[in-house]
Amino acid sequence: MFIIEYIKNPRLVGAIAPSGRYLADKMVNEINFNKAKCIVEFGPGTGVFTEKILSKVKEDTKVLLIEVNNEFYNILKEKYGYKNNVIIINDSAENIDIILKQNNIKNVDYILSGLPFASLPKEISRTILNKTAKIINEKGCFITFQYSLFKLKLFENYFCSINYKKEIRNLPPAYILQCRGEKNG
Ligand SMILES: C[S@@+](CC[C@H](N)C(=O)[O-])C[C@H]1O[C@@H](n2cnc3c(N)ncnc32)[C@H](O)[C@@H]1O
Repeated sequence: MFIIEYIKNPRLVGAIAPSGRYLADKMVNEINFNKAKCIVEFGPGTGVFTEKILSKVKEDTKVLLIEVNNEFYNILKEKYGYKNNVIIINDSAENIDIILKQNNIKNVDYILSGLPFASLPKEISRTILNKTAKIINEKGCFITFQYSLFKLKLFENYFCSINYKKEIRNLPPAYILQCRGEKNG
């Protein structure tokens, strides 16, 4: 399934298989689930990170999943569509500002991203990161993963502080980036 979607659209899918559970653990590690009122996930794919989020999240915390791929969207709908606190949107993360307005969400604590910034068209990455940095509240965090650090500069254009750690038990090994504070915001 994943590999078929990759073959159809390699730049957007960006990986031939879903992320592993060790990477998923590290992606959600920084989230303060007691305080979070709204968590957004960009590019959930088949839901590896979503599963972790939903196993830890409080019942009244909103979880917004934004997936551009129709097949993955249908899988997510089937898996999580029945949950009251989960909103699943079939659209591009580029439209995050509009999506939040449409769903009457004013405050976002965390945005977790599975987006393949290494292969996404530059303009799309820029639009998403620019909006993301503006949307997350002061104490919040943008969490993403990358297979290399060669796009670090891209994230530094939008965030004041970036910490990263490596998860070698993923295939391929991946860096988890935690980005905070809108640059020049
Ligand atoms: C590398 S896969 C990661 C999937 C999942 N998070 C994981 O780690 O297994 C990238 C995902 O981002 C989605 N995607 C790519 N561009 C997107 C965009 N502009 N908006 C929302 N989702 C997007 C793809 O369809 C795919 O599901």
